[in-house]
Amino acid sequence: ADTTVFRASTTAPVNIAVIKYWGKRDATLNLPTNSSLSVTLSQRSLRTVTTASCSAVYPASEGDTLTLNGKPQDINASKRTLACLVSLRSLRKEVESANASLPKLSSYPLRVVSENNFPTAAGLASSAAGFAALVRAIANLYQLPQSATELSRIARQGSGSACRSLQGGFVAWRSGTKVDGSDSLAEEVVPASHWPEMRALILVVSAEKKDVPSTEGMQTTVATSPLFATRAESIVPGRMTAIEDAIHKRDFPAFADLTMRDSNNFHACCLDSEPPIFYLNDVSRAAIRLVNDINRVAGKIVAAYTFDAGPNAVIYYLDEVSEVVAGTFKAILGGLDGWDGPFGDRLKSVSAGV
Ligand code: PMV
Repeated sequence: ADTTVFRASTTAPVNIAVIKYWGKRDATLNLPTNSSLSVTLSQRSLRTVTTASCSAVYPASEGDTLTLNGKPQDINASKRTLACLVSLRSLRKEVESANASLPKLSSYPLRVVSENNFPTAAGLASSAAGFAALVRAIANLYQLPQSATELSRIARQGSGSACRSLQGGFVAWRSGTKVDGSDSLAEEVVPASHWPEMRALILVVSAEKKDVPSTEGMQTTVATSPLFATRAESIVPGRMTAIEDAIHKRDFPAFADLTMRDSNNFHACCLDSEPPIFYLNDVSRAAIRLVNDINRVAGKIVAAYTFDAGPNAVIYYLDEVSEVVAGTFKAILGGLDGWDGPFGDRLKSVSAGV
């Protein structure tokens, strides 16, 4: 019998949305109520490293296994992980039936080992990097021919925002309209090299697990917030067009204004839910005031804040103002942990080789 262990390793970065995904129209397929747009961060400070392996010598009785940050996970309790594995295996079966000489990897148990270098489930998009790395590692192991956009359909089933972490630069997730989700895909708007001066500073306000997990928060918002329908139908579509335009033109004030408004609108919908959901805390609000002060003193918008489903702030700015922005943050809120280096994080394209 073949005793080979087939193996592929990859890393995937975090992405931070500037137009937020919040709300599912289908909770099983993770189809969103609106399109969203994010910036993929470099892998220097926040990333997941994942190794996928499979072998005929792995005992079938153990089935597929997943280890996250050194802890074995119950894979059967995670419908989302199972959905990704089923989709990837069936693509491998297509490859195998087209070429009978290939080893039947699709029939071997899989072992996936994943490490985050940042806190899991703290509103730092750990699930995005995690599922993107899982899908990319197994796609590489199986030598699948699919593009990043095609694979985004699979990563999306793990965690919605994960579909945007398979590509670098500025990435749009088009909500699509089909009930089977076949047109709900992520695509690169422009690569990071289009706007290499863009920086993101991550302020880790809290590394605790978030209060209300995103799926539960989304369901509550969709079911109870009257403001939410206006957001999904009337506010976000115009903002998607406007922010893509700002990105194409490298218009930072427009990009920043839309980013802050969309973060505020998303958190307003959370507050408008029943029961209300609070992701921001006093330190988050201090960060908002600090960005407003920096912009007022500069006489123009040079920095933008955004918050996901947690209190941690991400501040976008251009390299030319890094002394002012990163320096002010460090001087005033620098007693906190988790600074992403003194001059922020550079954007970088995703490199995901075997
Ligand atoms: O991918 P999820 O299900 O963890 O949802 C993430 C939602 C936000 O981070 C709040 C917004 C976004 O677009 O990433």
